[in-house]
Amino acid sequence: MGRFSEPQHPDFRRLNTSLAFDRRLFAYDVAQSRAHARMLARQEIITEGDRDALIDALDVVGRELDEGRFHFADDDEDIHMAIERRVTELAGAAGGRLHTARSRNDQVVTDVAMFVSEHAAAAQTAATSLMSALIAAAEDHLDWPMPGYTHLQRAQPVYLSHHLLAYVWMLDRDRARFDAATHAASALPLGSGALAGVNFDTDRAYLAAELGFDDVLPNSIDAVASRDFVLDYLAAAATCATHLSRLGAELVLWSSEEFGFVTLPDAWSSGSSIMPQKRNPDAAELLRAKAPRVVAHLAAMHGVLHGLPLTYNKDLQEDKEHLFDVADTLELCLAGATGMIVGASFDRDRLAAAAADEMLGATDVADLLVRRGVPFREAHAVVGELVRVALESGRAVSSLDKNELRAVHPALDGEVGELLSGGHWLESKDSEGGTALRRVREQLAAARERVQPSDRSVATGKSA
Ligand code: ARG
Repeated sequence: MGRFSEPQHPDFRRLNTSLAFDRRLFAYDVAQSRAHARMLARQEIITEGDRDALIDALDVVGRELDEGRFHFADDDEDIHMAIERRVTELAGAAGGRLHTARSRNDQVVTDVAMFVSEHAAAAQTAATSLMSALIAAAEDHLDWPMPGYTHLQRAQPVYLSHHLLAYVWMLDRDRARFDAATHAASALPLGSGALAGVNFDTDRAYLAAELGFDDVLPNSIDAVASRDFVLDYLAAAATCATHLSRLGAELVLWSSEEFGFVTLPDAWSSGSSIMPQKRNPDAAELLRAKAPRVVAHLAAMHGVLHGLPLTYNKDLQEDKEHLFDVADTLELCLAGATGMIVGASFDRDRLAAAAADEMLGATDVADLLVRRGVPFREAHAVVGELVRVALESGRAVSSLDKNELRAVHPALDGEVGELLSGGHWLESKDSEGGTALRRVREQLAAARERVQPSDRSVATGKSA
């Protein structure tokens, strides 16, 4: 065909083809071809008759693809060539006019931008559902004490609501990161031709409006060469997946016999093929393990773009599998996290028992000394000593008597015991953003506002 006298090596064809994966771009490709055909006719680059023949053929092709009836030919290298080939079969001579003033280079990047916008919005919608589920769970477990951890050691008690809401704020920032990807994908590449523009008086603003872009890219070289909007989407997804991996890791721990804090819903748990008693948190484990896969796709895409000379290079075909796998993985993980949170059943007694460990009040004893004029650093050491004395005699700090307390520090008295047995530690964390109920209620109101803004204009993203 044309320039070549020898056929392509079969292995080259297998290396070169993208049809196996880029066929999922067909709906965007058909939509942009329809807009392109209409634009060509409006600008009198093709006749209205040709336009109608093209639109009719594109309708048929769209239906065939949608219903899985489309026949791909051996020579179809990618989805763009497959669609154009079929349009030409259906529309005859007019079919050969579809590619006027267009190149696969501006065509493919336009499809990918449409894919990114749609999936950034899907991620935002799914993140918003997860936020709603977390907020509902926080409302249901508003005043359930649990240990807060540092180094996975019990540190200070918090309310379960406070802990769950921590994820809401991570997801809220994730949604904002997807906005950046949407914004970067919102200017139209189409109309840039192969790289330098086209030899026809086209109307790119019309194309942008038809295809839902806000603007047109002002530089044809940038338009066909750049994929930073893909990086933005992958980066947002990597951060979001990493957040989900932390939630997954906690659900794995919390659902273990050792913690016993939560039972995950049947619909999101599996049994063991050999041990009938088992209930495995597979979904939560996969939230943990999917995150590095998403991050790896981001790293791989940086690798594709790294040092790549302008403009289009076939390397860019490698954007798609990374992108598609990330969209599929992330959207599933968000659904899984939401399902687990919606169906999670927490064990109030187990959480409370773990939080009742009086050692968790150690900071509060130090703060008692601070209020009595002891500098915090010294108070910290005094309480450390107190804990050591208690542990050595095999007793609780609260059971040390007045003399034992005095021996450690003259400012220590019976109030230590009261403080430790009273369990007021949670309510004393009344600083802004703290775990005291008043503060958690404030937080809940703010979180609800992020999910269902009373003033729509403050919503993050189109989907919020
Ligand atoms: N399948 C190609 C891709 O995904 C489409 C663009 C091909 N352009 C070209 N000049 N070979 O990037």
